Amino acid sequence: MASKSLEDYLETIYNSLNRRGHARTNEIAEDLGVKAPSVTEMFQKLERDGYINYRKYEGVTLTDEGKEVAKGVSEVHENMRKFLEMLQVSKDQADEDACKVEHTLSEESITQLSRFIEFVEGCPEDEARWLQHFCYYSEHGEFPDECFEGERKEQNSEG
Ligand code: FE2
Repeated sequence: MASKSLEDYLETIYNSLNRRGHARTNEIAEDLGVKAPSVTEMFQKLERDGYINYRKYEGVTLTDEGKEVAKGVSEVHENMRKFLEMLQVSKDQADEDACKVEHTLSEESITQLSRFIEFVEGCPEDEARWLQHFCYYSEHGEFPDECFEGERKEQNSEG
């Protein structure tokens, strides 16, 4: 199994702290699906690098630097998950895939992804009908009639 990246660890610790109020070795091992000794080893490295504070039996907390990295990753994760869900990918699959790609996107893609999500979420519902139309298309394999309403109106007024 490929070793989990530093960003995965920081993200998982961040989520655990938010969810459980603590992040202990066995909890992080379970969340990441790795063995406890690997977590201990990574915790030591993360502490040396200044990302976490490690107390053997109490678990870890994030330093300001660790929090910053974790927040960044977690934001990309959320945006990617939302994007995939808009594409009608199921919730669990979207979540899983978001975690796979979140570390590999370029700055440009990260920025545009977040702009896209902001745009869609900020767009008034009747303006974002294309998204509902896509849901229909995805389900039925054909365009909904509403997609061509504008065109038909034009034809009628011409003819
Ligand atoms: Fe993730």
